[in-house]
Amino acid sequence: MATRCLRYGSLAFLVAQDTALVLLMRYSRSHAEGAMYLASTAVCCMEVLKLCVCVFMLYAGEGRGSVKGLMSVIRGEFVEKPQEIARLAVPSFLYLLQNNLLYFALSNLRATLYKVTYNLKILTSAMFSITMLGQKLSRRKWLALIALFVGVTVVQSDNHKTDSDAPHPETGLGYQTSGFMAVVAAAFTSGFCGVYQQRILQGSRTNMWVRNAQMGLTSVVLGFVGCFVKDRDAISTHGFFQGYSRLVWTVIVIQAVGGLNIAFILKYADNILKGFAAAFSTVASCVLEMAIMHFRPTPTFLLGGALINVATYCYNTTGSGKKAAKDLPR
Ligand code: C5P
Repeated sequence: MATRCLRYGSLAFLVAQDTALVLLMRYSRSHAEGAMYLASTAVCCMEVLKLCVCVFMLYAGEGRGSVKGLMSVIRGEFVEKPQEIARLAVPSFLYLLQNNLLYFALSNLRATLYKVTYNLKILTSAMFSITMLGQKLSRRKWLALIALFVGVTVVQSDNHKTDSDAPHPETGLGYQTSGFMAVVAAAFTSGFCGVYQQRILQGSRTNMWVRNAQMGLTSVVLGFVGCFVKDRDAISTHGFFQGYSRLVWTVIVIQAVGGLNIAFILKYADNILKGFAAAFSTVASCVLEMAIMHFRPTPTFLLGGALINVATYCYNTTGSGKKAAKDLPR
């Protein structure tokens, strides 16, 4: 009974967290009252927050609530395992890039369009599972992947027909096109990182908080480097926290909690539930964006979106939960 509550509780939490994050991030990137905050600093703050939570959990858990205990965990898991941190630097760097890409995408695309397109990560996860892990897919999974691709193409072509796509100053491409390319790139990093982690974690017994803290350490260092490489002038003129409001902090906290929630979901739920969560949160984003941000989807958009949701559902419900969880790594 308790496990059931945890499974469905974590599912409800994932839907709410995912939907809220996308809508609030989009709102924060399109409705700034003063200066727009820097995405690079927001990602950095999110990584610092995640690392603090992991360190606290290590202090309370493996460190048995003592600073001495925590120090011994840090010595054992960080100082004495530089090779482990180096191996995890690959997903740390790519997740950092991915989180920046998502801010960029949501600065240029509507939340619902972003949400349906990001389902492409199912396709990229499958591609990397086949090439890196030698996994075989059933016919039903292949059909679901083709339907997913067709759905994204339909949604995108409809969008280009209906919305203006003025040139983006940073990329020279249209805003929509730049946003779309960013989501596609994020789908690739998401797919690769999931499979890479699955590959290096096979047989590993490392505690989840240790693993996340090891990744977080590299992410924080690289995050600060990225901020100063990309936004040095803006930071030295207007400060690191320029444009920060309560809304921006809310987005940062929701994204940090969401990142940590992924590990929890995999422990207590499975991919069938995650598939439902992806479909639910796409529908919820669409309904809420229609209600709050006056989004009016065309019939073609709805058709493409429905195809993507059905494909996601079919992909995730093939095979047993445990087996499917292996098929679609996070
Ligand atoms: O969309 P996707 O599932 O790839 O998103 C993964 C998100 O979860 C990223 O924002 C990443 O930073 C976060 N994550 C994490 N710890 C992990 C794996 C992913 O915080 N071990």
